[in-house]
Amino acid sequence: MTNHRIALIPGDGIGAEVLPPAQQVLDVLGRRHGFTLSYTSYDDWSCERYLREGAMMPADGLAQLRDKDAILLGAVGHPGVPDHVSLWGLLIPIRRGFRQYVNLRPIKVFEGIDSPVRGARAGEVDFVVVRENVEGEYSEVGGRLNRGFPDEMAVQEAVFTRAGVTRLLDYAFQLAEQRKGRLTSATKSNGIVHTMPFWDELVAERAASFPQVGWGQEHIDALAAKFVLEPARFDVVVASNLFGDILSDLAAAVAGSIGLAPAANLNPEREFPSMFEPVHGSAPDIAGQDIANPLGAIWSAAMMLDHLGHPRAAKDITDAMAAVLAKTDVRTRDLGGTASTADFTDKLLEVL
Ligand code: NAI
Ligand code: MG
Repeated sequence: MTNHRIALIPGDGIGAEVLPPAQQVLDVLGRRHGFTLSYTSYDDWSCERYLREGAMMPADGLAQLRDKDAILLGAVGHPGVPDHVSLWGLLIPIRRGFRQYVNLRPIKVFEGIDSPVRGARAGEVDFVVVRENVEGEYSEVGGRLNRGFPDEMAVQEAVFTRAGVTRLLDYAFQLAEQRKGRLTSATKSNGIVHTMPFWDELVAERAASFPQVGWGQEHIDALAAKFVLEPARFDVVVASNLFGDILSDLAAAVAGSIGLAPAANLNPEREFPSMFEPVHGSAPDIAGQDIANPLGAIWSAAMMLDHLGHPRAAKDITDAMAAVLAKTDVRTRDLGGTASTADFTDKLLEVL
């Protein structure tokens, strides 16, 4: 029987509340489809550890994860620890150290979910944001000068490389080929005059190799408006690190709740483990109350199974999610229900 070695990093806040439901779901699928999952849990890698020991994870953290087949992460972030510390101390080192340059964020309006957007109907809105995950606007290049003086300043450089953008675009165009054959590139080449025209040139260059894909580009501001006004027209949306980050949260809200949204951080070459995590953060406002929606983590676990070569098991999960939402009124508070995390998970397991 195939065994997959999974690293679990619950993190902070509701991160630790949504991973156990995902694990329960995974174990059901393993039994049904004839594979096993062995877990190594890194419960301590969190903001609490940072406050105690000055680091989110041990110095050899990446080496400990290196031999795993995949990583399932909850969320990091805790009031009292600056967000750039928690992000740059754990998530970003894993994404960069393991060359997870594709961040994949599917968006779907499920039947039974009331989108806050009138025109977002179930069955029609089904697209995926492909976000560049290791360079772009989230860079360490820059610095601060003259701290505390009137002439204090900060400079932050965005880094776009031909190799980095091209490999991402190739992934996005290939995905569009397998899906509905449409690709939209998020740009802002009217305002950002160096990196974005370069991005646009590379998109046009790569598009020539994918003649079956119809493609277009939109400025990020207009694109944000279209996500709300015509969300059904999108198939694959490819974007830089910052634009993709913002667009995918917006898209998750259009789909009903950020609590539903999953993400995969992929190393397509499979030289390193890939990482799967809900889009949402540690949600300190609702942590510890057993009311977090576990679907973002569960759907992320489904993406992990797909990546590990079990597409049918992955589909069982998304089918069960769709069935619970369409056929029952059991849902967590973010979706207008009253179910606890545990009750909702039980219902999903029953349907599974
Ligand atoms: P957030 O996603 O944690 O919360 C935003 C809002 O959505 C809150 O009102 C929260 O209650 C709600 N929400 C989020 N997930 C939910 C779920 N599963 N079920 C029900 N409601 C849910 O984002 P926020 O407030 O901006 O950040 C909180 C902390 O999380 C910060 O420290 C931030 O840096 C961190 N963060 C971490 C991320 C990660 O680990 N990948 C991603 C985003 C934020
Ligand atoms: Mg985000």
